[in-house]
Amino acid sequence: MVITAEQKAHAQSLLDFIDTSPSPWHAVATAEQQLLAKGFVRLEESAAWQIKTGGRYYVVRGGSSLIAFVPGREPLVERGYRIVGAHTDSPGLRLKPRAAHACEGHARLGVEVYGGPILATFADRDLSLAGRANVRAEQGFETRLLRFDAPLVRLPNLAIHMNREVNEQGLKLHKQNELPLLLGQLQEGVAADSQFMGHVAEMLGVAQQDILNSEFNVYDTQKGTFWGAGQEFIADSQLDNLASCHAALTALLAVEQPDATTMCTLFDHEEVGSGSAVGAGGSFVSDILGRIEAGFGLDHEAQRRATANSFFISADMAHAYHPNFPAAYEPNHKVMVNAGPVIKTNASQRYSTGADTAARFLLLCESAGVPCQQYAHRTDLGCGSTIGPIVAARLGMPSIDVGAPMWAMHSIRESAGVLDHGYMTTAFAAAFGS
Ligand code: CO
Repeated sequence: MVITAEQKAHAQSLLDFIDTSPSPWHAVATAEQQLLAKGFVRLEESAAWQIKTGGRYYVVRGGSSLIAFVPGREPLVERGYRIVGAHTDSPGLRLKPRAAHACEGHARLGVEVYGGPILATFADRDLSLAGRANVRAEQGFETRLLRFDAPLVRLPNLAIHMNREVNEQGLKLHKQNELPLLLGQLQEGVAADSQFMGHVAEMLGVAQQDILNSEFNVYDTQKGTFWGAGQEFIADSQLDNLASCHAALTALLAVEQPDATTMCTLFDHEEVGSGSAVGAGGSFVSDILGRIEAGFGLDHEAQRRATANSFFISADMAHAYHPNFPAAYEPNHKVMVNAGPVIKTNASQRYSTGADTAARFLLLCESAGVPCQQYAHRTDLGCGSTIGPIVAARLGMPSIDVGAPMWAMHSIRESAGVLDHGYMTTAFAAAFGS
């Protein structure tokens, strides 16, 4: 397989996006920088809005969800929205509040499991922490992002001599007892908590007592890489679902003056069910659509017409066929890496795809010269889900679930295809132009 310089550069821009986004809060900050560079204007939910055709806007809620949009040239009531949605969060480990504690001469950090990570993949990785802290300010407090660049914490494996069955039984980790991360050896006369918060305070350049609160995501410091005989694959953390965020955002940034109102909705909390003020199950998307519609003077009937004339594409990763595990796959729905976007269908509506929305997406891909694949899960295995059915149900909007094929979903080191990232971006650009 030959990868062109342009295809490689686009995949590299995804790896760079992930490397600057070690937490959902950082992902939103990274997206925000790219939007500002392209002339998008930030709207505050607490302020009055003046939205105009020809403008480009974005809104952030809770620091971890973002909606960006470009009003269409044609009437919203007739053209509706073209929306691509994805999620900013990835499964993994999160520090508990007051995480540091002493244990037999060591300082450890207590963690909670966020979503459904493959826990064994966190062992023996060069882990570090990224998150945000609330620092005392003249007027209350300010929230600051921070990351430790060097490996700061680790989850060393138990040697095989104490875990003889590990290759037969798999690595099993007791979530309460065996997941705390090793931070260091206890310093004499320093409590574990001050040892840790001292690092945080030093990083922020403030006194320890001025840190009111903080929250941290555990991330892998290893940068994204290309691999394979033709360098046709990529490996990185958080491909699920920053790859979809990046493809959607890249397509939106390239939009000049669309006919329909184009939009990216990037939600936090997908991996824990989307039920929050910033999640896809919350009011964020309907609140923003409502304010845009009010801004353009749409009455209730016009709003419903705009919704009916819209298309929502829920973008999340798909399970690529793994040749070592043929029994895990539906034999007639093997989707391959580097063979194009995957349309995900599930009769129980774990995915929002319907026959007509699938046909619509197939035509979009056809017009853009992008190959397309269709996926169904094994009938005897439980199927995953994503934001598609949740947003579709909230808005009553024609919707589809699609994604790029990948291996090792929810590992801290996932893999995907270089070509697929370009295909997804092109398909989204086609949707924005439709
Ligand atoms: Co996902």
